[in-house]
Amino acid sequence: MHSKTVLITGTNKGIGKGLAHQLKSMGYKVYGTSRTPHSSTDLDGVYTLDVTNQQSISDAISTMTHDALHIDLLINNAGIGSDYNEQLTAKENFELRFQTHVFGTFFFTEAITPLLKPDGKIINISSKLSSFAEVDNIAIAKLTQNKMAYILSKSSLNMYTKLLASRLREKQIAVLSIHPGWVQTTLSTTNKNAPLSITTSVDGIIKLILKNPPTGTFWNAENQEELQW
Ligand SMILES: NC(=O)c1ccc[n+]([C@@H]2O[C@H](COP(=O)([O-])OP(=O)(O)OC[C@H]3O[C@@H](n4cnc5c(N)ncnc54)[C@H](OP(=O)(O)O)[C@@H]3O)[C@@H](O)[C@H]2O)c1
Repeated sequence: MHSKTVLITGTNKGIGKGLAHQLKSMGYKVYGTSRTPHSSTDLDGVYTLDVTNQQSISDAISTMTHDALHIDLLINNAGIGSDYNEQLTAKENFELRFQTHVFGTFFFTEAITPLLKPDGKIINISSKLSSFAEVDNIAIAKLTQNKMAYILSKSSLNMYTKLLASRLREKQIAVLSIHPGWVQTTLSTTNKNAPLSITTSVDGIIKLILKNPPTGTFWNAENQEELQW
């Protein structure tokens, strides 16, 4: 049995939920987060967290500090897809992706880093679409503005992975970006056509993490290969 502690953001559904349950079954102590307050009998705890809300981040960090959480592995999984929200303007839709993937991950991670153990790990769940090296493989003409917002926000997240990896190198905390593959979740309407089940993706992500790739690198969980930034 492991006594390692994992915190995963966005464990209500999808890849986050799958990772939480798989790591729990492997003997890890697993804490999740949810935007709406809820408890899980399967996990060791679920914190209420909306990464786009500074007060929610402060409240979650206060509770985690009060609970004396010491984290070995943080998985920044919370994210939104590229579907247009018709209640919002195009600019608001664009901003929401940056608020979630960039500002949200940044401010939450900056606040929680003191709770990470030296030699811990931070995984940012990113996307292969955000690799500069993949641009020639993308059907650019078919890219909607919202898909571009998704891609641009995850590219910024990747830069944060690199910056944070450099900053935390001395503390021996590794920081990685991982692409989970194209997975059958409700992230966007097109995900129903995705080839990978949540279980397959989760198995790939965990296998990669356990290989201890060098800090500041970007990986594809589907084929276990390194991605170019
Ligand atoms: N599925 C894919 O093919 C694919 C490919 C590449 C990358 N990814 C990335 O993988 C991650 C997980 O996606 P998924 O496919 O599992 O999607 P999902 O099923 O829609 O799950 C997303 C999770 O993120 C949470 N979340 C969204 N906004 C949040 C916020 N502001 N604060 C806190 N939590 C928030 C959601 O919470 P609620 O339950 O409250 O909505 C949900 O638990 C995302 O970062 C996504 O970009 C997925």
